[in-house]
Amino acid sequence: MDKIVITGGQRLCGEVRISGAKNAALPILASTILGGGECVITNVPRVADVLTMGKLLGILGASVSHEGNRAVIRAEVIHSTEAPYDLVKTMRASVLVLGPLVARWGEAKVSLPGGCAIGSRPVNLHLAGLEKLGADISIEHGYITAKAKRLKGARIYCDTPTVTGTENLMMAASLAEGTTVIENAAKEPEITDLANFLIKRGARIEGAGTDVLTIDGVRELQRGDHEVIPDRIEAGTYLAAGAMTRGDVTITHCRPAHLEAVLMKLREAGAEVQVEKERVRVMAPDRLKGTDVRTLPFPGFPTDMQAQMVALMTMAEGTSVVTETVFESRFMHVEELRRMGADIRVEGNRLVVAGRPGLTGAPVMASDLRASAGLIIAGLAASGVTEVQRVYHLDRGYERIEEKLRALGATIERRKAGAATTGR
Ligand code: UD1
Repeated sequence: MDKIVITGGQRLCGEVRISGAKNAALPILASTILGGGECVITNVPRVADVLTMGKLLGILGASVSHEGNRAVIRAEVIHSTEAPYDLVKTMRASVLVLGPLVARWGEAKVSLPGGCAIGSRPVNLHLAGLEKLGADISIEHGYITAKAKRLKGARIYCDTPTVTGTENLMMAASLAEGTTVIENAAKEPEITDLANFLIKRGARIEGAGTDVLTIDGVRELQRGDHEVIPDRIEAGTYLAAGAMTRGDVTITHCRPAHLEAVLMKLREAGAEVQVEKERVRVMAPDRLKGTDVRTLPFPGFPTDMQAQMVALMTMAEGTSVVTETVFESRFMHVEELRRMGADIRVEGNRLVVAGRPGLTGAPVMASDLRASAGLIIAGLAASGVTEVQRVYHLDRGYERIEEKLRALGATIERRKAGAATTGR
């Protein structure tokens, strides 16, 4: 298995261009099967999850071509309505084809995602919502089966705001007969991006970006072109890397409005943050200050930035309390950060991080996508060599990460499986 080897201690300086948002590209790609026309999607990040979604659409029968950051999809006919276990187990977001399949083709069979490193992640709200829309749902042999002649608009209340759940239901309701109202919907920018794409194709959706979505169903969606929004988590990750290495990093092609909670926390930690229209510059002092963070649904501090923020706090002055309210057991990076010398105590869903003047490089294991990003950042700031193993997690969501970090002055390389390692 590949690993990433970092020799830490360099200040990161310079500019980095932010890629398209993985979490917007995935539902947008899944939604292409809601209509037959050709959809041209640009600013699509070439990351493993996006390639998996392309593969899944291909299995279903869509024609998919993905060159560079442009994907062209046409789903005139569908050969299969099944998302197989082998794909779903590598990417939970495969569940995003459930709503579109049942809405346009009357049936869907999608493997149940199962557990993952960040804890139990049920899809009960996706299923309850589809049932409200009139789908017959059953679970057998590890698969969810949903069937409906034509979905019917309904009033749906989500007990918890769920991002992919809201997306699934919004896509399904776009083709339902009548009006659907989704209450307590998630408000993440990726949902608004999906809604904008659907609207371009003839869907009638109001309220995207608020917690009440109103969708008037139409018979079918037309073709459409769309540019995916920039990835706010990738953006936050490079800002955190700049701040943790006492650097001076400017991210370009980003949307600062999607980053407010992260920017506020970086400022609170003592970094200077300058915001322009599509750029953000972060300049960090020699030592950041400890800062408390609580993850929340958007516009709160994103859970997908929690591991990176914890990494940052391990070297800040003073004690920080990081509370995870979205995925309670999302602390797999903690043991690995401890191997690098971090002082972190776990108390239920809170981490108490006592900042240390420095970390020391160590071999560490990535356990999920964002935990990997936290370890990379820590490795960049630590003294000596850090080897991050299981980097396939990182490849699920970060486009050309070594190249981008090297351009900022990092000493980082990918070693192919079996390649000799240097001494530590
Ligand atoms: C999405 C993101 C992921 C991010 C997460 C939270 C994608 C592809 N993934 O994941 O990167 O970390 O949002 O911002 O966009 N829940 C239920 N029942 C459900 C669905 C969710 O109880 O049916 C709970 C979850 O356990 C969790 C909370 O709702 O506690 C939020 O999860 P959710 O927003 O659904 O996360 P995902 O959509 O899977």
